[in-house]
Amino acid sequence: MSSLKHIPGIRPTFPRPPASVQKGIGVLGLHEGRTLLVGLERATRARAVAGCDLSEEKIAAARAARPDLFYTTSYAELLAHPEVEIVAIYTPDALHGEHIVAAFEAGKDVICTKPLVNSADDARRVLAAARRTGRRLLVGQSTRFFEPFLRQRAAFERGEIGRLELVDAHYFHRMDWFYEKSPWAATATDWCFLGLSHPIDLVRWYLGRIAEVHAYGYRSALGERYSLQGCDVYTVSLRAVDGRIGRALGHYGLHELPSARNAIELLLCGTEGTSLAQYHDMRYLHTAADGTQVIEDPLYALRHYYFNSEVHGAHYGEFANYAEHFAGALLDGTPWAPDLEEGLETFCVMEAVRRAAQTGQPVRVAPLLEEIGLAA
Ligand SMILES: NC(=O)c1ccc[n+]([C@@H]2O[C@H](COP(=O)([O-])OP(=O)(O)OC[C@H]3O[C@@H](n4cnc5c(N)ncnc54)[C@H](O)[C@@H]3O)[C@@H](O)[C@H]2O)c1
Repeated sequence: MSSLKHIPGIRPTFPRPPASVQKGIGVLGLHEGRTLLVGLERATRARAVAGCDLSEEKIAAARAARPDLFYTTSYAELLAHPEVEIVAIYTPDALHGEHIVAAFEAGKDVICTKPLVNSADDARRVLAAARRTGRRLLVGQSTRFFEPFLRQRAAFERGEIGRLELVDAHYFHRMDWFYEKSPWAATATDWCFLGLSHPIDLVRWYLGRIAEVHAYGYRSALGERYSLQGCDVYTVSLRAVDGRIGRALGHYGLHELPSARNAIELLLCGTEGTSLAQYHDMRYLHTAADGTQVIEDPLYALRHYYFNSEVHGAHYGEFANYAEHFAGALLDGTPWAPDLEEGLETFCVMEAVRRAAQTGQPVRVAPLLEEIGLAA
């Protein structure tokens, strides 16, 4: 697929190189993390080595899919494994900070799923640990690495959209099933991190550093039913440092979406064109120079790669793509994104959203960057 060539390390080519030139990955948290263990079968520059979870049941499920790996219930044992060079973290949001710091201290590089962290204290601790140890981190922003979003980015970088004037992103998802399996989602994080990390990362990816946000939040009937602490409906306006603007929306208590809309969408409006990327229908829609709409729909060609022929919405392909990208960057000494600094900046934008929704006042991001120790 030529559209992927612009991103180093994306869409592996076979045959696989020998293990000696691949980065070994150990996965912590085997619910969503199991997807990476299986997804890594697609990668060439990274390979799965080990899995860790406190739950024997989760280990048994991962072992059934990847019987060839080392498994443990002890994070210390995973960190001590000599072939684990990158630790990939898929534990509940509020634990990411301590798990990243432990990995850095053990001399490992890290892939951390979104949201990177959900408190200013953890942001400060992670930044200090990275500076102390020199270890490196990629934030697993899966949406960036999904096919339509890769194609949309490639077209943008080729100049087909021109200079952006508005970026509009959303992530909608009914979450009762999530509260049932992961009660921490109602009490130990906030949807401005857990859910909005997708659209806010997308807006920030295109607009660059965000100067100020204005946000309103609301708790849905479904959120009330699960005794949600914070909000699960958000509308956010964002202004970039250079004055351009964007919007991020999230709703995590809604009824099922009509099929015309996708769970995640990113609309770019530029001086030369407009484009729309969709998750999970795997559609990339854009306007040609004469205004004709072009619909690229590779779902049937790529459903095995991205969804492992399971239900729409699994993340095998995206996780493999970002692991391949990060491992390739570490092996070749090239840049990767989103890195720790970008992830912490996005954390500051999400924290600004939380504060703005609480107070009803716009919140500037620069003081938050200073608060966590990043130069504003
Ligand atoms: N699109 C995406 O990238 C995507 C999708 C879903 C979830 N996530 C993220 O993945 C993370 C996990 O979500 P989930 O749905 O798998 O949650 P989950 O509650 O289903 O699973 C978390 C797992 O972590 C394990 N765990 C907790 N503490 C541990 C420890 N100290 N040592 C070992 N294992 C430990 C638990 O036993 C559990 O199996 C969250 O941060 C979430 O935001 C990302």
